[in-house]
Amino acid sequence: MAGTTCGADRPVRTIAVLNQKGGVGKTTTAVNLGAALAEAGRRVCLIDLDPQAHLTLHLGIDISPDGHSVYDLLIDPACEVTHCLVRARESLDVIPAEVDLAGAEAELADHPDRQRLLRHKLAAFTDSYDFVFVDCPPSLGLLTLNALSLAGEVFVPMQAHFLALQGVGKLLQTVQLVRRSVNPALQVTAIVVCMHEAQTTLAREVIADLDAFFDAARSQEVPWRNCRVLRPPVRRNVKLAEAPSFGKTIFDYAPWCAGANDYRKLAERLVAETQQLPAAPEIVTLPASTAPQERVPVAAEPPPRISTAPDPVQ
Ligand SMILES: Nc1ncnc2c1ncn2[C@@H]1O[C@H](COP(=O)(O)OP(=O)(O)OP(=O)(O)O)[C@@H](O)[C@H]1O
Ligand SMILES: [Mg+2]
Repeated sequence: MAGTTCGADRPVRTIAVLNQKGGVGKTTTAVNLGAALAEAGRRVCLIDLDPQAHLTLHLGIDISPDGHSVYDLLIDPACEVTHCLVRARESLDVIPAEVDLAGAEAELADHPDRQRLLRHKLAAFTDSYDFVFVDCPPSLGLLTLNALSLAGEVFVPMQAHFLALQGVGKLLQTVQLVRRSVNPALQVTAIVVCMHEAQTTLAREVIADLDAFFDAARSQEVPWRNCRVLRPPVRRNVKLAEAPSFGKTIFDYAPWCAGANDYRKLAERLVAETQQLPAAPEIVTLPASTAPQERVPVAAEPPPRISTAPDPVQ
């Protein structure tokens, strides 16, 4: 594969792009951040784990009738990753999805290790990349759990709205539970502000709240202690909304628009920080039989608008 890599000793960064709220910019971020990193010469793999198959459509990937997708990878023990891998662009590979993925959760209901199927299929394979992004569906079901058991990190795209803060609190709680059950190494490492409207006071206040919340967590033993709100926020830009209908990334469609510039800058930042990373952290796994544990008290004191406390009814 062409391009300069992050370095042979750099660990792959496997990132679940997750927010249970719909329409916040998950797919747009996975596609365009991935494409920006590939343009910068990094080896990138995108995994479409959403039955809507928006990432696959966004990249204009057409699966042939006898082709394979992530559904086959999850359901069919004989299906290997090489059967479904598609080269979408230079340095950019994709494991695509089709709508049949919607049936996977029900079909896997009785599988004893259903939360870790993706990890088992892909753990060794991901080592040949610098970055792997998993585009999650807008839910916290079995597909998302598979993404979280494979990933080392979670990136949370969100819009800087007041109600979105509550959703982030819920998401952090979920990651804490997953860390206790299926993936003890999982960390939330970035918030990506999408569809940013810089001129609004609300957006500035929400970002300031998020900054304060994550700064307060730095000294705490929580899976978001290394999380930060990435700069720059990705501005609302109609070109980003138009590109999917042409099956193009923003760099194919309008390479110098504001949206392309924002994702390019985010990619530069990730490349720079990845070069500072130490050797690969040891991955710790829990036995398959370990059940999700109780909700854990959260040590970091959040600003009042972000709560990671369990709901009183649960
Ligand atoms: N910065 C932006 N400016 C303008 N439009 C955007 C921007 N980011 C995303 N969009 C558009 O907003 C819509 C939702 O984005 P996207 O599909 O990435 O969200 P999502 O979180 O993946 O949604 P879902 O939860 O349904 O999977 C899409 O039409 C997308 O093109
Ligand atoms: Mg999506």
